[in-house]
Amino acid sequence: MKITVIGSGYVGLVTGTCFAEFGFHVTCVDKDEKKISQLNQDIIPIYEPGLNVMVANNLAKGRLAFTTNVHASIREADVVFIAVGTPSRRGGGHADLSYVYSVAEDIASALEKYTVIVTKSTVPVGTGRKVEQIIRQKRPHAEFDVVSNPEFLREGSAIEDFMKPDRVVIGAETERATAIMRELYRPLSSPETPLIFTSRESAELIKYASNAFLSTKIAFINEIADLCEICGADVQAVAQGMGLDKRIGERFLNAGPGYGGSCFPKDTLALIHTADDYGMKISIVDAVVESNSQRKQAMSAKVMAGCGGDLKEKTLCILGVTFKPDTDDMRDAPSLDIIPSLMKSGAKIHVFDPQGQKEGREMLPSEVKWFEDPYDAMTGTDAVVILTEWNEFRALDFDQMKKVLKKPCMIDLRNIYLPSHVQKQGFDYLSIGRSP
Ligand code: UGA
Repeated sequence: MKITVIGSGYVGLVTGTCFAEFGFHVTCVDKDEKKISQLNQDIIPIYEPGLNVMVANNLAKGRLAFTTNVHASIREADVVFIAVGTPSRRGGGHADLSYVYSVAEDIASALEKYTVIVTKSTVPVGTGRKVEQIIRQKRPHAEFDVVSNPEFLREGSAIEDFMKPDRVVIGAETERATAIMRELYRPLSSPETPLIFTSRESAELIKYASNAFLSTKIAFINEIADLCEICGADVQAVAQGMGLDKRIGERFLNAGPGYGGSCFPKDTLALIHTADDYGMKISIVDAVVESNSQRKQAMSAKVMAGCGGDLKEKTLCILGVTFKPDTDDMRDAPSLDIIPSLMKSGAKIHVFDPQGQKEGREMLPSEVKWFEDPYDAMTGTDAVVILTEWNEFRALDFDQMKKVLKKPCMIDLRNIYLPSHVQKQGFDYLSIGRSP
C-alpha cells in the first residue's frame, strides 16, 4: 500500500515516518522547497525526541521520501493524508480551512484510481463532507472516499503516542474505505488499541471534544489549586486523591501556569465557534477559555508576590519558555504572556531553555537576555522562576545556585520540587496550590 501525506509539518512528518516504520511506502509532501530539501538530507525542522533517527532510518531503507511534487505523489497513492495546518482565523477563532480546501483541489485534479483521502488535520465537523463535495464537483466520476482520522499525538511524545495510542478513531462511511483503513492500522491493532469506527462527523467531533475536555481538566485543577492556596490544602494530594477514581483519571491534573501550545487554545476556540455556527452556546468551554486566559495573567502577580511584591530593579531567571518540555514549540506558550507582563512591572529577564531559544528569540521581547546554561542565566538574578518542567530542571544544584543568585529564591510554577526539600536548602520557595 502506498501512502502520501500532504503537509510535512509536525503531524504530517510524525504520521508519515511512523507509517514508513511499519514498512509502508510513504511520500511526504510540502510546498516549502527548503524544508523538503533539508528533510532529504535528514535535517528535521522540529525538535521531537526520536524522530530524527526514525526519519534517517526510513530514508535509508527507501520507505520514506520527501517531495514538493503534489500531483505525482497523489496519483501514485492508495491513501492520501491531508495533514496541513488549520490555524485560527484572524479576528475570531474559527479554524482556517483554506489549506485543507486547496489540497482538496489538488487531489481533485490528480486522482487517477480509487483513493482513500484521509483528513488528519484537526478539522471542524462537516469538513470531510466539504472536502468530498470539492472533489466531486471537479471530478464527478472519480473513485474515492473521504475518511476522518484525527490524531491524538502530544508534542514531545508523539512517536510513542502514535505507536501505542489509547485508541484509533476512524470516521469512514463505505466498506471499501473501512477495509483499507483497517489494513493501514493493522500493525497497531492489539487488545489495548481499539480501532473505533464511526461516522465522519463523530470522528471530527471526538477530536475537538477530547481536546476541550483535557483543557477543562487542566483549567479545573488550576482553579482548585487557587482554592488550595487559600484554604491550606495541597493540590498535588487533591489531584492524586481525585485521579485515583477511575471515572476521573489521574492524568492531566497537574496544576500549572495555564495550558498553551498549538492545539488546546486553538481547538477550544474552534469548538466554541462550531457550536455557535449550529446556534448553541457551549458555556463550559467558554468558561475554560476565560479561566485559562486569566490564569496566565495571575501568574505574573504570583511571581511578583514571590519576589516581595515589587519587581522594579529586579532581575528574574526564567527556566523554560516553550509551552511544555521536549519541544521547541513556543506557540501560545504561557511564557509569551507572563514574561512581557513581568517586564511591564519593571523586571529584567534572563532566560534559559534547552530547545526554545531559536523560536523564543523571535517571539519574546528583544530585551530578554538569553543564556546557554541555566546557572549562567541565574547569575546575579533575584529569583529563579520555573516556567516549563524540562527534566534537566528537576535536580538543580542548590549549592551552585546559592553561589550565583543574589538571594536564594525559587518560584516553581510546575510544582517539580517538594517545598520541604527546597526550604531545607535555605531557599524562599513558592509553588502552585500549596501553602508557602
Ligand atoms: C494535545 C493533546 O494532548 C493531544 O492528544 C493532541 O493530539 C494534541 O494536543 C493535538 O491536538 O494535536 P499537546 O498540545 O502536544 O497535545 O500537549 P499536551 O501534553 O496536551 O499539553 C498541552 C498544554 O497543557 C501544555 O501547555 C501543558 O503544559 C499543559 N498541561 C498539560 C498542564 O498544564 N497540566 C497537565 O496536567 C497537562
